[in-house]
Amino acid sequence: MNKTISYIHFDTIDSTNTWAKANAHLLNPVQITCITASEQTGGRGRFKRRWLSPRGDNIYMTLFFCIPKESPYLSNLGQILAYSFATLLREKGIAAELKWPNDILIEEKKVGGVLSEIISLEDRIGVCLGIGININMDEKLLKTIDQPATSLKGFSRQEILDLILKQFLHDLEILQKKGFAAFQSAFNRLLAFKGKKMAYGLCHGVTEKGHLQVLLPSGKTTTIVSEGLG
Ligand code: BTN
Repeated sequence: MNKTISYIHFDTIDSTNTWAKANAHLLNPVQITCITASEQTGGRGRFKRRWLSPRGDNIYMTLFFCIPKESPYLSNLGQILAYSFATLLREKGIAAELKWPNDILIEEKKVGGVLSEIISLEDRIGVCLGIGININMDEKLLKTIDQPATSLKGFSRQEILDLILKQFLHDLEILQKKGFAAFQSAFNRLLAFKGKKMAYGLCHGVTEKGHLQVLLPSGKTTTIVSEGLG
């Protein structure tokens, strides 16, 4: 894959991920295609949840690119996009954290999420890596979301888009060369809820493969592998 990016912007679309999957065979396989929309009428989150996507300054973006079949880092791509976003927020002085596998939080409230989907193409895998970021979301609308949510405020959509692309291209190259192990300690430093109770047990940290280690009430440690691609 070269690092050239082509851009496709929709004023309105059902979902940039859905569009990328449906049109994957038409997109350049050796480039990254960045598909964005001003609003989504059918924005999708993980676990078939909907992703609130009103018109405005939020980011709705899908990065489409191809990777070889059986790439060992396939399940880490969503985590790395979340990591890239959290990293750039930290550089801006915002104490962003990561909720495993790939939610981005500020003060324990979700500011962004990643939906990673794949499509099998002839001799390679097409990756549709979608990210939704609340930038100027109305407070009342935020309260309608079924989990604590927040919005960035004070940033332009374009500024965040440019920074996230730059950071992700940098991180993707490292992931492809060295695997998730190269991010393990940095990811753990940004991990939210360390030592706190999560659905599976006490959050301990991520392994060198990006799996979550939790401490069970029995005192034993167990490893949770992300559901689907995360
Ligand atoms: C989640 O946290 O559940 C993942 C949310 C992913 C939302 C983005 S917005 C751009 C892309 N298109 C979609 O329909 N979903 C992703």
